[in-house]
Amino acid sequence: MIHLQTQRLIIRDHKTSDLESHHKLMSDDKIMYHIQDIQTNSIEESEKNLQDAINEIENPNRTMYFLRIESKQGEHIGEIGYTVTDFTPMGKLVHLGYFIYPQYWGKGYVTEALKELMEFAFMNNNVFRITTGCFKENIGSEKVMIKCGMVKEGEYKKIQWHDGEMKDRVSYRILLEEWIEFNNIY
Ligand SMILES: CC(C)(COP(=O)(O)OP(=O)(O)OC[C@H]1O[C@@H](n2cnc3c(N)ncnc32)[C@H](O)[C@@H]1OP(=O)(O)O)[C@@H](O)C(=O)NCCC(=O)NCCS
Repeated sequence: MIHLQTQRLIIRDHKTSDLESHHKLMSDDKIMYHIQDIQTNSIEESEKNLQDAINEIENPNRTMYFLRIESKQGEHIGEIGYTVTDFTPMGKLVHLGYFIYPQYWGKGYVTEALKELMEFAFMNNNVFRITTGCFKENIGSEKVMIKCGMVKEGEYKKIQWHDGEMKDRVSYRILLEEWIEFNNIY
């Protein structure tokens, strides 16, 4: 069971009792605007998404690390996590995602959560390389990547149809060695 703590946040594995708030978040049009591919459209879909995440907790070959972000007072703030895309002799390659409720945007929560998740990934979960990406117009998301020490790998012109037009995307990475250097760990 993963249970991480930061100054303001708890980042933890899911429980079945998370369903109601999990569904509210995952099915919200505003929150999921830039990540419509993972938006759920019914309580059944949200339940499956939650159950899939819970089923992975005890899997010795776990590939999904989908975690819930809560305040220390127990309010649901959002979600953060990664999927293992490859197991290599050097460690895991993972792809990251995050989304939180609008009332918490712009307060540094995702940056705080991601820094903690990176520490877990690199120090305790044998991760070698983390990647993520977003629409170029999703300024807040790209800023989170930069503030956590990620390095831009690519910019893709008019690569994805979204809300009536072709949009640009950016992609970022951070390697274990880059994370160590960024955090001045010797
Ligand atoms: C994108 C998102 C995850 C950012 O989370 P957050 O907790 O608000 O991020 P932080 O507060 O840690 O940092 C965001 C930074 O971007 C800035 N920012 C946020 N939205 C912005 C916008 N629309 N335009 C310009 N800057 C913006 C914030 O001011 C902050 O910058 P600062 O630290 O220099 O003040 C959050 O807005 C969200 O959940 N959005 C909906 C889901 C989503 O798009 N997820 C990412 C998919 S790739």
